[in-house]
Amino acid sequence: MTNPAIKHYLQFNDLNADEYRHLFARAALIKKKFKAYEKHHPLVDRTLAMIFEKASTRTRVSFEAGMYQLGGSVVHLTTGDSQLGRAEPIEDSAKVISRMVDLVMIRTYEQTKIERFATHSRVPVINGLTNEFHPCQILADLFTYLEHRGTDTLGQPDPARLAGKVVAWVGDGNNMANTWLQAAELLGFTVHLSTPSGYEVDPAVAGLRSSGSYKIFKDPRDACAGADLVTTDVWTSMGYEAENEARMRAFANWCVNADMMRAAKPEALFMHCLPAHRGEEVSAEVIDGPQSVVWDEAENRMHVQKALMEYLLLGRVA
Ligand code: CP
Repeated sequence: MTNPAIKHYLQFNDLNADEYRHLFARAALIKKKFKAYEKHHPLVDRTLAMIFEKASTRTRVSFEAGMYQLGGSVVHLTTGDSQLGRAEPIEDSAKVISRMVDLVMIRTYEQTKIERFATHSRVPVINGLTNEFHPCQILADLFTYLEHRGTDTLGQPDPARLAGKVVAWVGDGNNMANTWLQAAELLGFTVHLSTPSGYEVDPAVAGLRSSGSYKIFKDPRDACAGADLVTTDVWTSMGYEAENEARMRAFANWCVNADMMRAAKPEALFMHCLPAHRGEEVSAEVIDGPQSVVWDEAENRMHVQKALMEYLLLGRVA
């Protein structure tokens, strides 16, 4: 049985709008301190276990550097160098690991796997990407959007400024698209989805209450029309490599290019969670162009995850 006193972050909708307001404010403060080389050590003597069953650059570095910067330490495990790769049940792994650390971050395949781990964990569990969801990435993406286009009069990120905005999702109906759908419903914006036939988003995965926060478009240019943010991801996510050739053919018209960006609002931003393949899901002129904020987006993974770890372990600190 999951301990209701423990707060996990397995999907974007595990937190509510007010908790996101708190996280964005904390992330802004934590980022400011980091830039000023000011110590922020709320997690002294706390340990984060990071479990990777898939490859990573940003998630590994942002969680590891972030935990050290908070005064804590990390243990890094992969399938290949732990008993997870030798079929130790996930439930047993959860019971053991969570007796020795204060927090666990997992990148794995099925969402059910992280849910089983969380059910048997004594400590909070964070989703570092599953086949179905990537909540830490969307947390960083929203913070990045607010930094650029949604601050209040004091220069603070204001999630109320997301209301009514349009995010165009061009490409695979994958874990990122599912998470965007959860975020839109929770924070009051709309997602325009355009995916090739056979690679559609299944809104049931996101568990939405209604269909009011998304619209589906056949033509990706139509999805981008009037958008405040255009975003995409690789055509072949980790775990789907066997489909790569078929995907290359199916996704050929879903490359975010200058024509699509021209259809969006003049002040629209471009985001990509990275790693990117220039000439496939995005043209070089877009990802390396003036509307792209992909490097801020990558850096902000660390700042928002520091706020998230602080919140899951300490609650609302002032
Ligand atoms: N965006 C993202 O999760 O990057 P990594 O796969 O490098 O962790």
